[in-house]
Amino acid sequence: MFQPKTIIEPFRVKVVEPLPLLDRVDRAEALQKADFNLFSVPAEKVTVDLMTDSGTSAMSQEQWAAIMRGDESYAGARSFFRFQKVLQNLTGMTHIIPTHQGRAAERILFHVAGGEGKKVPSNTHFDTTRANVENSGAEALDFVIPEGLDPQSIHPFKGNVDLVRLEQWLEVNHDDVPLFVLTVTNNSGGGQPVSLENMHGLKALLQKWEIPFFLDCARFAENAWFIHLREPGQGSRSPREISQEMFSLCDGAMMSAKKDGFGNIGGFLALKHDKWAMECRNMLILTEGFPTYGGLAGRDLDALAVGLEEVLDERYLAYRIASTEYVWRKLDEIGVPLLGPAGGHAIYLDGRRFLPAVPPGEFPGQSISVALYVEAGVRTCEIGTVMFGKTLPDGSQKPADMDLVRMAIPRRVYTQSHMDYVIEAVAYVWEGRHSMKGMKIRNEPPALRHFTCGFEPVGWNPLA
Ligand code: F0G
Repeated sequence: MFQPKTIIEPFRVKVVEPLPLLDRVDRAEALQKADFNLFSVPAEKVTVDLMTDSGTSAMSQEQWAAIMRGDESYAGARSFFRFQKVLQNLTGMTHIIPTHQGRAAERILFHVAGGEGKKVPSNTHFDTTRANVENSGAEALDFVIPEGLDPQSIHPFKGNVDLVRLEQWLEVNHDDVPLFVLTVTNNSGGGQPVSLENMHGLKALLQKWEIPFFLDCARFAENAWFIHLREPGQGSRSPREISQEMFSLCDGAMMSAKKDGFGNIGGFLALKHDKWAMECRNMLILTEGFPTYGGLAGRDLDALAVGLEEVLDERYLAYRIASTEYVWRKLDEIGVPLLGPAGGHAIYLDGRRFLPAVPPGEFPGQSISVALYVEAGVRTCEIGTVMFGKTLPDGSQKPADMDLVRMAIPRRVYTQSHMDYVIEAVAYVWEGRHSMKGMKIRNEPPALRHFTCGFEPVGWNPLA
């Protein structure tokens, strides 16, 4: 019997979008104009865009058909009931509250559950979650296992919660904890999964103090697939069954449906209990919209209702995780320093080992990101001292825990040959690493500096 080794893309192309192919001179000019900040480079100057997997998915023919079925009624639209049905079935939760994206769900939830003096633990909060917790006056804390903080440690579930450390902390702090947020997969920790065993352990711990368990489920299907692949006893279960078990442990969930919802926009809050649901809906009406559309058009709800089913297709998930792993493996073979093992949605270069002579205060991740763009038109995202560090009063930089460069893979968008091109691009920059140096920040805004600050190379010219 023919047993192919090649895992093919389980789709073919029906509509094409031309890729900008520029020469180096054009890219150097674009980068100069952007003050070496990739967020300021126009998309038409980018050949392969790996800045994020959020909102960048290709929709399927069924999703485009669903767009046409969209019902734009203000109240009680058919689109909402289709969206609600899919999510009630998946999550087992009664209350489904649509929002325009993930952070809107976070803002509403923490407006209701957060506040001065509260403490919100997580494996690792994603930045918008952390910002929304803190904006409510509460404190955001991370309890990922130690392996999750070491780019070189190998563990099948590096997103797991350190239950021993959490239990000790809860003994003292449980009265101040309104809920726990488990991020699956753990984006800020490298797209690493959480095991079902860890979730059951966490549930038992939270139950002891009656603390609600929330899932930040932007990449729930990728997490379920890792469980299917890696967790003993789970190999014969479908990603849907595994996902349903994950949600069954929770009291609520919030999602940026721009990831595993295959949506270009969208999110939701799912809740088991009536009291919070009522308070959240009241906030929703104030800031997002009527409860049967949230911040979305009817057509968006319909496209998401289809996407949230399609994402659980085993052939899709097998291809998705294999394609990320493929890039990771090829780069690892060349010797490029990476955060390992491969994450679900992204490959992370380890900037500190890539450019050991560049101190974190000179942003090694930014130098790599700049070089990948100017040499090959590949756009990536620094996740390190630019994003999480800060300028101290003496002008020096407080370094982040790690200096990573994220290559996030949009869903169903790029083919294997695009990925081969990316691998070549990284290999080229890796070979030329000895002539690379650091960067400095020329001007920065008071908050979220990575989006708008300007840079300048220190002691080298990446554009030459
Ligand atoms: N939670 C997680 C785990 C995320 O990765 C994101 C977004 C959000 C919440 C917020 O959702 O963007 O729809 O408001 N992550 C994007 C990224 C921005 O590039 O990783 P949003």
